[in-house]
Amino acid sequence: MYKTEILKIKQKLIEQKEIEQIRRSNAIKKASKLLKEGQVVAFPTETVYGLGADALNKSAVKKIFKAKGRPVDNPLIIHIANKNQLPKLIKGTISPTVKKLITEFWPGPLTIIFKKGDFVPNITTAGLDTVAVRMPSHPVTFALIKEVDLPLAAPSANSSGFPSPTKAEHVYNDLNGKIPLIIDGGICNIGVESTVIEVKENKVNILRPGGVPKENIIKVLKNTHQIQTVDHRNVRSPKSPGMKYKHYAPHTPLWIIKSGLKEIEQILKEHNINNNKTLIIATEEAIKNIETSKIEAEVYNMGSIKNLDLIAKQLFDLLRKSDHKEYELILIEEVPQKEIGEAVMNRLKKAAVKIHKEGE
Ligand code: TXA
Ligand code: MG
Repeated sequence: MYKTEILKIKQKLIEQKEIEQIRRSNAIKKASKLLKEGQVVAFPTETVYGLGADALNKSAVKKIFKAKGRPVDNPLIIHIANKNQLPKLIKGTISPTVKKLITEFWPGPLTIIFKKGDFVPNITTAGLDTVAVRMPSHPVTFALIKEVDLPLAAPSANSSGFPSPTKAEHVYNDLNGKIPLIIDGGICNIGVESTVIEVKENKVNILRPGGVPKENIIKVLKNTHQIQTVDHRNVRSPKSPGMKYKHYAPHTPLWIIKSGLKEIEQILKEHNINNNKTLIIATEEAIKNIETSKIEAEVYNMGSIKNLDLIAKQLFDLLRKSDHKEYELILIEEVPQKEIGEAVMNRLKKAAVKIHKEGE
């Protein structure tokens, strides 16, 4: 058991990207000391909070799996702050395509799969001969990696299976007593995890849709590559092992429903569930109509359908909030599968027990 400490970084320093001042803060100094001693620390990134440890230290990485209750066959992403940290982690040459993607998207929410270098212990990559690396753009992550001068293995800092944390309090709720320190850097801006890709000759396989939308990758590579999101359903051993686990799930059963008031009313009627034990999470547009309808169920606003970025940013917080009351069922409206909406729908489908178009 640990007494979990939360140390805050001033929001102003984050907004103004005062890396050197952040580096000198008590939070970063303390985190760096713990990480060098082989401990784990939770920290903010631009996507979600991560639970980090020295990626090259076996016993430190083991502590991550233990604190999260994470299956050991699910590999971790290694976080770096500088391209010079890459050669020690990987093997072989970097293709021109990967170089292009690095130039375009790092630092940022893109994780790239490389051949694993010999220094990286097997526990970090769950025994795979590949390694996932990303360079986060959040000033706090950057300052921390610079100060500690180690590559940090870090999964999302939630208890395994729960929605990823986008606020320090989410981390605290899940991991209080299990880790020594949480660096509080406020709310994560993107709100869903990084996009995980592997590049094979003229193909880019998106193993997990995330913070960098497919459209942005297409824009950079133009017509030179086939870019596709890999469908992990019904695959026994998916390329991104994490994709086979149920994820992001609140304790309350979650159904995804079609967009629009009519669809919501129809579901409520069909299942006779128009009561205060049901929660509807709907877009601003649908809510405007709900207010004048006969719907009695409580409603949360997920934001405007016109602002998918904001929906993504609030998603995990909403899923966590909706779990706090005694609801028996949560209905959530689907969003368009474009831009960051693809990542949002990917997370919702993994959290849901039922989707309106079964079998699709
Ligand atoms: O935004 C993010 O990526 C966050 C922040 C903290 O950086 N991290 C994160 O890590 O989401 P995690 O562990 O929750 O998800 C990592 C995903 C999993 O689906 C895992 O299976 C996949 O990346 N992954 C890791 N290494 C891999 C590898 N060598 N090959 C294929 N997939 C890999
Ligand atoms: Mg995760």
